[in-house]
Amino acid sequence: MELDNIETCDEKKAEPNASETSTNRLRSLLKYFEKRKLMWIIIFLVILILIIIIPIVIVKTKKGNVTYHSTTMAIITTENTKAINELTTEEQIRPKYKKWKQEGITVAGGNGKGSGLHQLANPTSMAFDENETILIADKDNHRIVEWKYGSNSGQIIVDGNNAEEIKYHLRLPEEVIVDKKNNALIIYSYANQAVLRWFRQNQTIQELFDLDPNLNPIAMDKNGSIYISEYAEDRVRRWKDGDTNEAIVAGGNGNGKDLNQLFAPKFIFVDDDYSVYVSDWGNDRVMKWEKDATQGIIIADGTNNFNQIPFPEGMIVDDLRHIYAADNINHRVTRWCKGDTQGSTVVGGNGPGAESNQLNGPTRLLFDTEGNLYVADSNNNRIQKFELVSD
Ligand SMILES: *[C@@H]1O[C@H](CO)[C@@H](O)[C@H](O)[C@H]1NC(C)=O
Ligand SMILES: *[C@@H]1O[C@H](CO)[C@@H](O)[C@H](O)[C@H]1NC(C)=O
Ligand SMILES: *[C@@H]1O[C@H](CO)[C@@H](O)[C@H](O)[C@H]1NC(C)=O
Repeated sequence: MELDNIETCDEKKAEPNASETSTNRLRSLLKYFEKRKLMWIIIFLVILILIIIIPIVIVKTKKGNVTYHSTTMAIITTENTKAINELTTEEQIRPKYKKWKQEGITVAGGNGKGSGLHQLANPTSMAFDENETILIADKDNHRIVEWKYGSNSGQIIVDGNNAEEIKYHLRLPEEVIVDKKNNALIIYSYANQAVLRWFRQNQTIQELFDLDPNLNPIAMDKNGSIYISEYAEDRVRRWKDGDTNEAIVAGGNGNGKDLNQLFAPKFIFVDDDYSVYVSDWGNDRVMKWEKDATQGIIIADGTNNFNQIPFPEGMIVDDLRHIYAADNINHRVTRWCKGDTQGSTVVGGNGPGAESNQLNGPTRLLFDTEGNLYVADSNNNRIQKFELVSD
């Protein structure tokens, strides 16, 4: 009953005409408190403080603040020292996150959209050759270009504009992968939906296989097998020369959200253990399928996050097994660690723009051997390098 009075009182206080009633109600409220013992007020305050402190503790713990985490936990549950020790140890051995300078360096392009040798036009992906020279799929120029480190212009390696034969095969190259074993480049040509191999030795193109007219990103493992993310078939396939049995390495059990299923997989990454990371677009999650596994493991889950589409573009994994996504809608690169329900900004995120701390529609990511991060900054027609900050 008293509670009802309090609510009504507050409501009427907002109306100017009810000021008299309001004063009366306030008086009876004060009387009510006077009648109660001080103890009840203290209990109320203690509960209130706990309600405020607990969410803070949870947030701080998630951020990995070891000191705060362990001391506060000790106050709340003094008896459970074993659990606290375990948690603290786990926190301490957890590797640190990598950091990159927020100001990027342009290593290719950045001179407006165009076909000059100092320009790029919608560069979508890049790779390093054996000498760590960057190769770029210069999509709208229908060519693969090479930019030596520190140079002001590039060199055309594969040209889809010159020879008739090449023209037929190579339009809108979207992906480029270095095939060391064959001294070749693997190129995904968007216009004719085909995966091509271009041999350096005799500058000829071999068509490896056609793809469905859908988004089909590709990746390569250290053994030279090509992986194709089959968006429409909800699976990832592995292709190898002379291998007639094209293996399904992830999904292939219809579309759905069970652990052995995928739903519209987009980007893939294959690590040195032949594990395949799949951005499982339709399920808003990233799955890891280990070699020969019959089901995947959920690595990141963005299902409950309505603020961002978790893995809209390219995705790579670093040596700490953290996932990085080119968030081309929010013009930034995000990092997802195991169990995360949302990504954190690594570089960019300062709106679309061409300043050094900005990106505009990033599409693919790449690390060099020193851990520096490269971003295909497509709408800015440039490749940005973000230097690793070592600590
Ligand atoms: C890498 O550098 C070596 C030595 O300069 C050179 O012989 C080789 O052709 C280069 N490789 C490529 C792919 O350019
Ligand atoms: C080009 O070189 C590759 C690798 O040596 C070879 O397999 C292919 O047949 C050659 N193509 C032509 C047209 O000579
Ligand atoms: C690597 O390739 C070789 C031959 O191409 C094959 O025999 C071997 O099984 C492959 N290894 C893995 C781990 O896929």
